[in-house]
Amino acid sequence: MISKFLIGISIVLFLHPLSARADGSLHVSHRRDSGYQACAQVLLESVTFPPVNSKSRHGEEIDYASFCSTEEQPALGSMAHCLIDSFKNSNKYVEAFVHSCGGSLTVDDVHESYNNATQFLVNLTSISDIGVMVFKPVAVPVKKVQDLSTLIYNSGLNDNYDLFFGITMVSYWFVIMLIAAVNHWFYYLFPNVVKSMHGSLINGIRRSFILAPSISKHHAQVRKFKFFQWFVPLRFEALVILGWLVLAIVFCSVGYQRPTIYFMALPIGSRSGLLLVYSLPVLVLFPGRNNFMQWVTGWSQARFLLFHRWMARIMFLLTLVHVTSKTIGLHQLHGYSYYMHHSFIRWGVVGAVSIGVIVFQSMNIFRSINYEFFVLTHIILAIIFILSGWKHASDEEINSPQSFYAAAAVWGLDRVLRIIRIISFGVKNATVELQTDEILKVTVNRPKHWVPHPGAHAFIHFLRPSYFWQSHPFTIVDCSSEQNTIRFYIKVKGGVTHGLYKHLQSSPNGTDNFKVLIEGPYSQRLPIHKFDNLVFFSSQTGIPGLYSEAMSMAQNKDTSNKRIKFYWVIRELKSLEWFYDELMKFKGTNVEPVIYVSKPESDVEYLKDSEMGKKRSGSNSDQSEKRETYLSVHEKKYWNERSSSVSSSRNSILQRSLSFVEFRTGRPNISDIVKSEIECSEKSVALVACAAPCIVDDIRDVIREVLGKDTSKRIEFFDEMQEW
Ligand SMILES: Cc1cc2nc3c(=O)[nH]c(=O)nc-3n(C[C@H](O)[C@H](O)[C@H](O)COP(=O)(O)OP(=O)(O)OC[C@H]3O[C@@H](n4cnc5c(N)ncnc54)[C@H](O)[C@@H]3O)c2cc1C
Ligand SMILES: *[C@@H]1O[C@H](CO)[C@@H](O)[C@H](O)[C@H]1NC(C)=O
Repeated sequence: MISKFLIGISIVLFLHPLSARADGSLHVSHRRDSGYQACAQVLLESVTFPPVNSKSRHGEEIDYASFCSTEEQPALGSMAHCLIDSFKNSNKYVEAFVHSCGGSLTVDDVHESYNNATQFLVNLTSISDIGVMVFKPVAVPVKKVQDLSTLIYNSGLNDNYDLFFGITMVSYWFVIMLIAAVNHWFYYLFPNVVKSMHGSLINGIRRSFILAPSISKHHAQVRKFKFFQWFVPLRFEALVILGWLVLAIVFCSVGYQRPTIYFMALPIGSRSGLLLVYSLPVLVLFPGRNNFMQWVTGWSQARFLLFHRWMARIMFLLTLVHVTSKTIGLHQLHGYSYYMHHSFIRWGVVGAVSIGVIVFQSMNIFRSINYEFFVLTHIILAIIFILSGWKHASDEEINSPQSFYAAAAVWGLDRVLRIIRIISFGVKNATVELQTDEILKVTVNRPKHWVPHPGAHAFIHFLRPSYFWQSHPFTIVDCSSEQNTIRFYIKVKGGVTHGLYKHLQSSPNGTDNFKVLIEGPYSQRLPIHKFDNLVFFSSQTGIPGLYSEAMSMAQNKDTSNKRIKFYWVIRELKSLEWFYDELMKFKGTNVEPVIYVSKPESDVEYLKDSEMGKKRSGSNSDQSEKRETYLSVHEKKYWNERSSSVSSSRNSILQRSLSFVEFRTGRPNISDIVKSEIECSEKSVALVACAAPCIVDDIRDVIREVLGKDTSKRIEFFDEMQEW
């Protein structure tokens, strides 16, 4: 139901430029309309006809309806002569005029009036006073009407191009997303077709276009240069963005007809303004948590956020073009200061400034310094931008606020769905426990109907005075042992998570209860269940999502005979304590876990210390001290149970409790692992990674290398690393 509703909205979104016209309907300017418009303009410039009871159409400067009444023969006769005498092929001009009268007039009326008027016709040149009221039909200079008609037509053509280009700018995204959707749904509908596509051409395209970072091998890792830092998009992402930029540049540059009734700068200003405005609802749709296009395309929120940022930057360039050319144009027209008194121009200035500030404050560096501050200012500025743009475009000079309604509606819908999600989960009590390695284990009872899929994440609000308003994304682990219970494993960072950590430090046993709101579950399922071999790579806190995916495969009859390899890289042996219970569930399944302990040296000391209950000290004294105070309770209990009876030899402890796990020490050699895993796989293999950025980038790099050589099977890569 909801998805149908959302698809409905998407169609409206897609078509909205069609209605973004003064009279609310699709308006394409035609040559034939320029006839009566030119005639009316030339006539009314010089003379006045007696008033008629006509309803003037809203927003039109010239009241064409005053020519539409058979009661008022002088006006109608003048129009008839103007049209029939000025234009070759005058029939279509007459028809257009009759059409514009909206049914009050027929073509015959016009011709009758023409014949009668011929007897009374006065020449415009013989009328000396401008604006004088006339009671006879007037003949206007043919050349003047023709020239004006051409000017009007050219302006109309510019409007046509505005409309066409605006629709194309929006359609661009939907066409790209349609291609992505076809690709995505192929994995579900025709998995065997997907698995059979591993020839050198397909592999070539995938390795150099779909999977490749734009330059070098960095994608998940943030790049830095002095003050600047950024993520490198994949090649195809960069090309999609580049394509849109090229469209924006071309559409601002071509399709202008000259001469028009305006200065050249004004149509350029209108064009860039309209391109900007048409794109706005799409810009607002992309970053939303409930952006249904995530479901349609299978793209992650991170990718939509990437497109959102680049769209905004390009739209900022359009704003610059708009402001510059309008400033020049209006200066030529009536002078700059004349227009600055109009409130809609002032609102335009406010909007332009706010989008400039937004683009600046959204830089990666500010997002990473203080994400909450970024989000807050971003929302305020975006509201200012939309409201001021709305005011600007609602003025009768522009009169196309529809895109702003659409943008506000899209945003509002996302917010409403977020609230519905929060309400459907309800206010719950969460138990938060401090674990090894500064990990917080959050356990919450979930409503029965609220079933997260493997790999899903949710946003948590911890209802404490200093940060109840913040919500942060964490991956959900659905407990199989306790019904209707979910867990989160949260690494302590600098914001909310640090606040919780501080609080737990002073709580008994490092445990406390908090009221929480949970918004989710979000993200798409990965289409991995049809692949014959699966290899998961995680490191540190990257494990929960991949664990859920692997477990759901192991528990499902259809997939429980697949070969599933599960790599987890941790620093020290004790880092596995917080996930120990879950890890134990792999026992007896088809999942083959391999744990890399990258810094095993510290473990020897660790074991010694916990055995003797001694205070640890070391180079990392600050951290280990913290752990000592509130973690030692857990650690000792855990290790005492498992280790006190046996020697401090790590191997023998592990052999007892985690005998199904293969332990390896040292840093993993990603290249060797990936290559040998792919080699061992028959028919098809999917590699899924949620690990430290450098590991993910290495995996991607090796897979690209293998794709270039091995065309014997389908090799798929799912990058679950989401950074934004
Ligand atoms: C889909 C997804 C799933 C995640 N799952 C887990 C998980 O299971 N376990 C885990 O420990 N971490 C997870 N994270 C990371 C986690 O969201 C951040 O570490 C957390 O928000 C940091 O909170 P803080 O206030 O302490 O951050 P800060 O110390 O203020 O910031 C630390 C970093 O987190 C980023 N960040 C802060 N707030 C947000 C936010 N609301 N959205 C996105 N990024 C933010 C900042 O840009 C910064 O780079 C996940 C992130 C995403 C996007
Ligand atoms: C013919 O034209 C004159 C002058 O416009 C007008 O007064 C008169 O009513 C018209 N006659 C008819 C039959 O329309």
